[in-house]
Amino acid sequence: PPLDEILNLHDFEAIAKLVMPEKAWAYYSSAADDEITHRENHAAYHRIWFRPRILRDMTHVDWSTRILGHRSSMPVYITATALGKLGHPDGELNLTRAAAKHGVIQMIPTLASCSLDDLMDAAQPGQVQFLQLYVNKDRQVTRRIVQHAEKRGIKALFITVDAPQLGRREKDMRMKFDAEDPDEVTKSGGEVDRSQGAAKAITGFIDPGLSWKDIPWFKSITKMPLILKGVQCWEDALEAYDQNLAGVVLSNHGGRQLDFARSGIEVLVEVVEKFKEKRGITFPNPRFQLFVDGGVRRATDVLKAVALGATSVGIGRPFLYAFSAYGTEGVDKALQILHDEFEMNLRLIGAQTIADVVPSMVDATNIHSHVVAVP
Ligand code: FNR
Repeated sequence: PPLDEILNLHDFEAIAKLVMPEKAWAYYSSAADDEITHRENHAAYHRIWFRPRILRDMTHVDWSTRILGHRSSMPVYITATALGKLGHPDGELNLTRAAAKHGVIQMIPTLASCSLDDLMDAAQPGQVQFLQLYVNKDRQVTRRIVQHAEKRGIKALFITVDAPQLGRREKDMRMKFDAEDPDEVTKSGGEVDRSQGAAKAITGFIDPGLSWKDIPWFKSITKMPLILKGVQCWEDALEAYDQNLAGVVLSNHGGRQLDFARSGIEVLVEVVEKFKEKRGITFPNPRFQLFVDGGVRRATDVLKAVALGATSVGIGRPFLYAFSAYGTEGVDKALQILHDEFEMNLRLIGAQTIADVVPSMVDATNIHSHVVAVP
C-alpha cells in the first residue's frame, strides 16, 4: 500500500510482515521464549490513563525537549537495533537520514550493518548520535571502539547490560543465518555460528563477565556520559546513580532477553518512587536521566512515560519495519506520524510544553497489576 495509507506505527508492522524477507522478519520481530514480556511491553501502557486539564490556551504547543543536554524535536530517540541490512540494502543509513530531517537522535548499535564511520559521515552538521555498546571479551577492542567513537563526535555511550547471554528467540532460531557477507556484520569479532539464527550468529564476542567493577574502567577511557541500557529494578538504578553515571534505560531489550521481565514503564514507576524515598530526588532530573524503551507505539505512550519522570523514550521495531517496507521515506513518515500525534495529544491533555506533562496528568494506580494478555 502507498505510504499515505499508513496511519500509525502499528501499520508498519502489519505491512512489513507481508513484504519483508522471512529471515529478516524472524530476526526483527522475535522475542524470548513465549514472548510474554514482548506483549506486556505495549500492554503495560494500557494500564495508565490520562487526567487531562482544560482551558489552558492550546493555540501553541511545543513538544521539543533536551536529551542529555542535546536538543530533540520530540521526547523520542531511535534506539539501537542490530542488522539493518537484513531489512533494507541501506540499513541504518535510513535511520540517520530520517533522524536528520526530523531533528531526533539516533543511537547507533555496535552491531549495525553499516560502519560507525559511514553512519557518522552521513549525518548532517550538528546532528547528534549516540552509541550503544556491547562489551567485548577483549577490552582492547572495546577501548578502540569507544575512543574512536568519542573522537568522531558521538555524544553518549549506552552500555547494554541485559545480555550476558543471548535470550532464546525461537522464531529466529528456526532460520539458518546466511547473510550475504557475515563478516560485514561481525566486525566486532567473534565466531560465526550460522546454525541458530541471526542473533546467535553475531553475539559470541559479548563478555558475560561484565560487572560493576568495570565501571571505573569505562570512566577512565572516555569522557562521554555513560548510561546503562537494560536496568530492570530500582536497586540497580540506584547503584548507577551512586556510581555517578549519567542515567539508565529501563528496558528489557524489546522482550528479547528474559521472558517475564517487567515492562520499562512499570519499572519507571518503581524507580521514581524509590529515588524519592532513598535519595530525595525527583524526575526528570538533568544530573541523572531516566529513559524507557519497549512497546512504545503512540505519542500517548511517550507522554505517559514523560509524565512519570522519563526524559525520553526509545523506539525500535517500528522504524525497522518502516524502512524494510519503504526505505528512508518510511522512517520519515513514522516520525511525522509521531509529530502529529504529539501536537494533538498535548492539546488534548492540556500541556503547552513537555515540562507541563506532570505526574498528576496520569493515573498509574494499576501499573503493577499484571494480567497476561491472551495471545
Ligand atoms: C534490538 N535491541 C538491541 N539492543 C541493544 O542494546 N543492542 C542491540 O544490538 C539490539 N539489537 C536489536 C535488534 C532488534 C531487531 C530489536 C527489535 C531490538 C533492543 C532495542 O534497543 C530496544 O531495547 C527494543 O527494541 C525496544 O523495544 P521496541 O520499541 O522494539 O518494542
